[in-house]
Amino acid sequence: MLDHFQDKTVLITGGTGSFGSTFARLLLKESKVSKVIIFSRDEWKQWQMREQDPLFHDPRVRFFLGDIRDEDRLRRAFHDVQIVIHAAALKQVPAAEYNPTEFVKTNVLGAMNITSAAIDCGVEKVIALSTDKAVNPLNLYGATKLCSDKLFIAANALVGKRGYPRFSIVRYGNVLGSRGSLLPFWKELLKEGKKSLPITDLRMTRFWISLEGSCRFVGHISKVMQGAEIFVPKSVSVYIKDLAEALHPGIKLDVVGIRPGEKLNEVLISHDEARTTVESRIFYCIQPQFEVHGSEQFKKATQWKPVAADFVLASDTNPLFTTSIEEIRALVQGSSTCTL
Ligand SMILES: NC(=O)c1ccc[n+]([C@@H]2O[C@H](COP(=O)([O-])OP(=O)(O)OC[C@H]3O[C@@H](n4cnc5c(N)ncnc54)[C@H](OP(=O)(O)O)[C@@H]3O)[C@@H](O)[C@H]2O)c1
Repeated sequence: MLDHFQDKTVLITGGTGSFGSTFARLLLKESKVSKVIIFSRDEWKQWQMREQDPLFHDPRVRFFLGDIRDEDRLRRAFHDVQIVIHAAALKQVPAAEYNPTEFVKTNVLGAMNITSAAIDCGVEKVIALSTDKAVNPLNLYGATKLCSDKLFIAANALVGKRGYPRFSIVRYGNVLGSRGSLLPFWKELLKEGKKSLPITDLRMTRFWISLEGSCRFVGHISKVMQGAEIFVPKSVSVYIKDLAEALHPGIKLDVVGIRPGEKLNEVLISHDEARTTVESRIFYCIQPQFEVHGSEQFKKATQWKPVAADFVLASDTNPLFTTSIEEIRALVQGSSTCTL
């Protein structure tokens, strides 16, 4: 499945993060990748990553300190790189509301720097990670990710006759167990002996994907992408209250109220995006609205089927919405939701 990484140099921005470190592990274990470059700012996180897992002593691994806000540094890092996976971001919703300029600098200007450095250095493919919060955004984090998505899609039109880099997006909902997310927070409270868990609203639903599932999905998409698409994995969605029940049966819930910038339900594909959306067994693909990289021919060649005209992929009406506590428990215990 990861054959296409053979002899390639892959750079992961945000390589020390939840996604980045798991993706790097997957490449080192299951592919014949030539080099994996971990690009991030904090030397301490890089040192820890290397110390905590002997896999990162592999001679194919390079640790590269840099900030995606610094285009010169990106240009230096992208030298002789074929595939870039862009996972660096600021992502905490409340932090974005209080520090908007910092989110714009990292998530928007950082994306701009990556597109231009990738074009200048002749990178072949770039996949940028996005989120359901970028769809009809209500908070600044989502708005910056929407800008980032637009920058990557539009960059496909800047590459000229050479035909590359190809830029595509992978968009998904919450990642189970990722740094700073709900599940590790709840687990910590239970470890401290708390007898109840805080929940924002009993009606709230969210999409979920496991960390491994998200990495395998990105690995797969880096093979099938043509450029300018947004790929969305078919993943489950659940009531947040059911997630608590699956984690700790019978646990009491304290309703603390919805936070600024939060939605009751999230959307991964909006009604307007459905017009250009097709589906395969494992994903939805929002195709570009403009002709790029022979996309019209490519659309005809694939077996992917258009979704219904009134389609919307929302966490409360998702065909894979579940209230089965057994199924949710399997998800919480780390089973992949991505059937690759
Ligand atoms: N986790 C989720 O639930 C979720 C859901 C949907 C989409 N996503 C998207 O998936 C991506 C990865 O998320 P994650 O959960 O792996 O995040 P994470 O664990 O917080 O990791 C973020 C990484 O980005 C690096 N970083 C931050 N600012 C940087 C900068 N200016 N320059 C270079 N590196 C920088 C961080 O390292 P340093 O601090 O050392 O630089 C860290 O390695 C993000 O784009 C996020 O928006 C996440």
